[in-house]
Amino acid sequence: MNNDEFYIKRCIELAQKALGYTYPNPLVGSVIVHNGEIIGEGYHHKAGENHAEINAINSVKNKELIPESTIYVSLEPCAHYGKTPPCALKIKELEFKKVVIGAMDSHDKVNGKGKKIIQDEGIETVSGILEKECIELNKRFFTYHEKKRPYIILKWAESGDGFLDKDFKPTAVSNTLVNQFVHQLRADEHAILVGTQTALNDNPSLTVRNTEGVNPVRILIDFDLKVPASFNIYSHEAKTLVVNSVKEGTEGHIQFIKINKDHFLPELMEALYKEQIQSVIIEGGRFTLQEFINADLWDEAMVIRNENLKLENGTKAPAFNNTATKTETFRDNTISFYNSK
Ligand SMILES: NC(=O)c1ccc[n+]([C@@H]2O[C@H](COP(=O)([O-])OP(=O)(O)OC[C@H]3O[C@@H](n4cnc5c(N)ncnc54)[C@H](OP(=O)(O)O)[C@@H]3O)[C@@H](O)[C@H]2O)c1
Ligand SMILES: [Zn+2]
Repeated sequence: MNNDEFYIKRCIELAQKALGYTYPNPLVGSVIVHNGEIIGEGYHHKAGENHAEINAINSVKNKELIPESTIYVSLEPCAHYGKTPPCALKIKELEFKKVVIGAMDSHDKVNGKGKKIIQDEGIETVSGILEKECIELNKRFFTYHEKKRPYIILKWAESGDGFLDKDFKPTAVSNTLVNQFVHQLRADEHAILVGTQTALNDNPSLTVRNTEGVNPVRILIDFDLKVPASFNIYSHEAKTLVVNSVKEGTEGHIQFIKINKDHFLPELMEALYKEQIQSVIIEGGRFTLQEFINADLWDEAMVIRNENLKLENGTKAPAFNNTATKTETFRDNTISFYNSK
């Protein structure tokens, strides 16, 4: 690992601290180095707040060192006026000696413009350092902008004999250690989606418990609005998008989105893109998961298995024929991880 890679790696570490808090913005970290010494560090904490570069600049005690310093940033500095002025202009104004960028930003409003502003000022600029790692860091953000849909994570828990529940009634399939993992996943991702039958049978609240974090946006598929308003999925703890074929409009923390049942997946993707949903966990049940699997519309899958549990009868686990990239053991449960690529 050379020096540039070392500092970009530090940018990635800083950026990751805000996972789950920045949506719809990307995770970005920045480091300022003078003569081989880190004199400033920062990351983007939350949408609407300072970008990483600004936090790093603000943390520098002796600002006179800036024109002899290099600023490292895991993602191309922004070029547009959003809630804050463009970072590329700030870098130009302060006349940094050099700028090192991890990955370029494919967002329409940036896409090379940030780098160009800095280069046009005559500042030495390097990009594509630990690019793969920087793209992985923002897999949600890049998928959202490039594919015009959220990053999709399929997730379910099955018994040793391949069922999601016993006799179609709410059933605890996974152990407490796995539950901890699942709640962290909810905190990390932007949204979580369930089908009608899961909302009716299990009455889930889909909030983050057992760990700290922001509750994901809940997405309920309920074409005929069968799920009663008193159910937990409508609780005030989080926003709920109700995908249906009856009505449109916002009622407090509930937003009704009308789509055509016959074009379910493409219209859902369009709606979630419009709502700026960067990632979504497909929580179930079988019917809903199978639609995504059959359309080959997913990025990652996580299959929890409780080998010793036999349920004999109930909702079958989805049909899914893929090879896991890894399987981890959580006491008597396992989680197998899959990538669509
Ligand atoms: N172990 C686990 O990880 C896990 C996770 C989640 C759920 N579950 C279990 O799974 C069971 C429910 O699974 P399920 O397969 O019956 O139901 P589901 O996927 O939650 O909901 C499917 C139902 O939703 C309606 N629907 C219609 N079009 C849809 C669409 N395009 N997308 C989504 N839903 C649509 C349909 O009902 P209509 O035909 O009436 O419109 C359909 O039968 C529950 O008992 C729950 O306990 C287990
Ligand atoms: Zn910026």
